[in-house]
Amino acid sequence: MIIMDHKTLRKKFLDFFEKRGHKVVPSSSLIPTDPSVLFTTAGMQQFKPYYTGDADAMKDFGSLNVASIQRCLRTSDIDEVGDESHLTFFEMLGNFSFGGYGKKEAIEYAYEFIKELGLKIDYVSVFGGGEGIPADEESEKIWQAVNPLLEIKKTGRDDNFWGPTGDEGPCGPTTEIFINGVEIWNIVFNQYFQEKDKTLRPIKLGIDTGMGFERLLATVRGVKNIFETDLFLPIIELLPGDLSEKNKRIIADHLKAATFLLAEGVKPSNKGSEYVLRRLIRKVVVFEHLNVNLFSKTESAISKVMEIYSGIYPELNNTEIISEFKGERDKFNKTSIQGIKEAEKITKEDLEDPIKLGNIVFHIHESFGLPPDATTEILRNRGFDNFIVEDFKNTIAARRAEHQEISRAGAEKKFGGHGLILDTDELKAGNEEELAKVTRLHTATHLLLAALREVFGQEIEQRGSDITPERLRFDFNFPRKLSFEELKRAEDIVDSAIAADMTVSFEEMDLEDAKKSGARFLPGEKYPEKVKVYFIGALSKELCGGPHVSKTSEIGTFIITKEEAVSAGIRRIRAIVK
Ligand code: GLY
Repeated sequence: MIIMDHKTLRKKFLDFFEKRGHKVVPSSSLIPTDPSVLFTTAGMQQFKPYYTGDADAMKDFGSLNVASIQRCLRTSDIDEVGDESHLTFFEMLGNFSFGGYGKKEAIEYAYEFIKELGLKIDYVSVFGGGEGIPADEESEKIWQAVNPLLEIKKTGRDDNFWGPTGDEGPCGPTTEIFINGVEIWNIVFNQYFQEKDKTLRPIKLGIDTGMGFERLLATVRGVKNIFETDLFLPIIELLPGDLSEKNKRIIADHLKAATFLLAEGVKPSNKGSEYVLRRLIRKVVVFEHLNVNLFSKTESAISKVMEIYSGIYPELNNTEIISEFKGERDKFNKTSIQGIKEAEKITKEDLEDPIKLGNIVFHIHESFGLPPDATTEILRNRGFDNFIVEDFKNTIAARRAEHQEISRAGAEKKFGGHGLILDTDELKAGNEEELAKVTRLHTATHLLLAALREVFGQEIEQRGSDITPERLRFDFNFPRKLSFEELKRAEDIVDSAIAADMTVSFEEMDLEDAKKSGARFLPGEKYPEKVKVYFIGALSKELCGGPHVSKTSEIGTFIITKEEAVSAGIRRIRAIVK
């Protein structure tokens, strides 16, 4: 048998679909524009607007059919990592069509590609109907025509219906291909749009397929275990021999996921994706405490991740990855040593009382920053692994809820009604100092949009904005990487506007008048009848709830720190003010 390496398999997949009229599109960012999901969890995430007609694939890709290999991150299975098939970071091969072809071609392409790889299908599954949605008889007939000998299983909504990602979006019945008992390819027929209230409305049929790359590679290589592929073996082989197989897998997975997040400029912290990154790193650092030989290996393991994916993800050429990892390790080590000592004091009796254990684990997290999964790992390392995880998790959850209630009540007293003193979807601030910072960054965001429109023209529109006290993050439509000179020009326009000390003012208007006045607004956003329009001299005019500085000089110095792709046709700029 030919041993296929991961780079060859990537090429085989993309070439196969390119030859059949698909435009190859690069992976989008792990952090999507869609605020209702923390991470990109599927290949179709970046293509959501093409299924609904909100974006035009012909215009953006020159084709209605595209194919990609998408980097993804899912935290739903984080506790399962260590067995033979679960991961947090993984890649997804996919072919997609937005009106270019239908079920017949989607099924035939999949069948042909599987054959080309020399694999044998065990059986396929199709949607047998349920919950008011009709069975997918068309797919069943197509499979029968493709190969009359194939076994076709029919299942309901739980197994053969996929999506949406996030709060709303395209979704629909699926057909799945199983090889050696494992689901290899999920072919989704996006025939519905699920609204936020979970109702389904029919949309024009679109094709969305997802094939887990690690699983496929293992299958093609004839190994049962995803860790025995060239996506993992070189990392695992670096780790100390006295670690258990399971712990090696956890470390390899978590370091890989952390490396990819750090590569995109995510910083470990306490909220959202930043907290996930912190958890991943801290778990590895706990293993460093449990095995002295690991400490000297983690950095080379990170370098190995970069090496494996070199030439595939240019984002990994980022010199800050290792220093950021070490920074978080140092921060954790300063406080966590005590936490680890406390975890080591947990007795057999404590373990038999899930409520008591939950309280101890919660206390260790609150006081020493040692996350519950890290404490669990220490207990496992001591040979305790049959305590009642569910009960103890429930206790931690209850304590956490109580704790949040107390801090919310405290904050309400202080700020008259809110845990955060500012929380629009876009801006968040916990105290007066943070409020001043996000306000400066918010006005800078308006100036940045105005500057980009000056550099590139009036087609540039905001596609996403997220402001923390540390930085602004701004997404907009643009088809390619910005050059250094272009970024510099945009930065200079913003800094000149700051130097000119322009007045920031607002007017309340009727929504229709505001839109007619040419003020920028977000298409698709629901605005009230009366809106505020913020003006910065004649440079910027935007529908916005505020808050903003009153004179641009209050912003300080504006510095662009990063420019990157979010998805096809969408770029992201991060900037700070000093
Ligand atoms: N979008 C199909 C899948 O993720 O399986």
